Amino acid sequence: MTANILDGKALAETIRAEVATGVAEIKEKHGVTPGLAAVLVGDDPASAIYVRNKRRACDEVGMFSETFELPADAAQDHVLKCVQDLNKDSRFHGILVQLPLPPQVDERSIIEAIDPNKDVDGIHPFNVGKLVQGRPDFVPGTPAGIQQILVRNGHDPAGANVVVCGRSDIVGKPMALLLMQRGAGANATVTVCHTGTKNMAEITREADILVAAIGKANVITADMVKEGAVVIDVGINRVDDETRKRGYRLEGDVDFGPVSEKAAAITPVPGGVGPMTIAMLLVNTVTAARISIHGRPS
Ligand code: GUN
Repeated sequence: MTANILDGKALAETIRAEVATGVAEIKEKHGVTPGLAAVLVGDDPASAIYVRNKRRACDEVGMFSETFELPADAAQDHVLKCVQDLNKDSRFHGILVQLPLPPQVDERSIIEAIDPNKDVDGIHPFNVGKLVQGRPDFVPGTPAGIQQILVRNGHDPAGANVVVCGRSDIVGKPMALLLMQRGAGANATVTVCHTGTKNMAEITREADILVAAIGKANVITADMVKEGAVVIDVGINRVDDETRKRGYRLEGDVDFGPVSEKAAAITPVPGGVGPMTIAMLLVNTVTAARISIHGRPS
């Protein structure tokens, strides 16, 4: 079997066009331009690229956006004050604090300081709680994007055995919660593997849908994948490569070549999950703008 390539770049374009329509409608009906504030602390090059791409995507769909850059040695109170100011700033409906934060800044207290109605990353405990209860308003961009990739390519998770490898707060945990919900686009039987899992290959081989969110290149090998599975690769790993001008290449968590001979469908890296994360952040920002006008849906 040769896998169908799940083109996240093309789907993200479709979703961005849908977002642009929503933005135009909010502007016309309410005179409000949805706005996103990005907070970037320090000078990690990968984080800077992510934030730049997010802002570019905002511009493209007619949103307002601004990046707030703080130095790598910014004190906890400095970052906290920045978030508190943005909570009060009505130009911004969404606040994105790019993670990870430098070690002197306590990530949890910064996340908890974000107004839950502006939490477009869906990581404030209030929004995580709503996701646990199956009534989320903001789902973190990566799992939300993966759900769209599955559903819009005809791979309905309902009744499927889904195995998620990775238990991060921003991908693994919300992915599992999202797909185990009752309702459309979910209703799967979900298993989560992590560093404490003893027999990962045995478990992944049972997956109809396998989500790899481990953060290490090529760890999901063909022997770990069932024939005909749908494989979603969340990894964006930098691997040294002298033949490239920038000195590295990007590789996923999945050993793409051999796995794509066995899977029914697979996301590429790059061009799979990555563009969808940004597209869903835009969706969440439109939701946040609507909440600022109408309140939360009941
Ligand atoms: N760092 C890596 N992925 C993400 C993300 O989706 N949101 C934020 N805020 N930081 C990240």
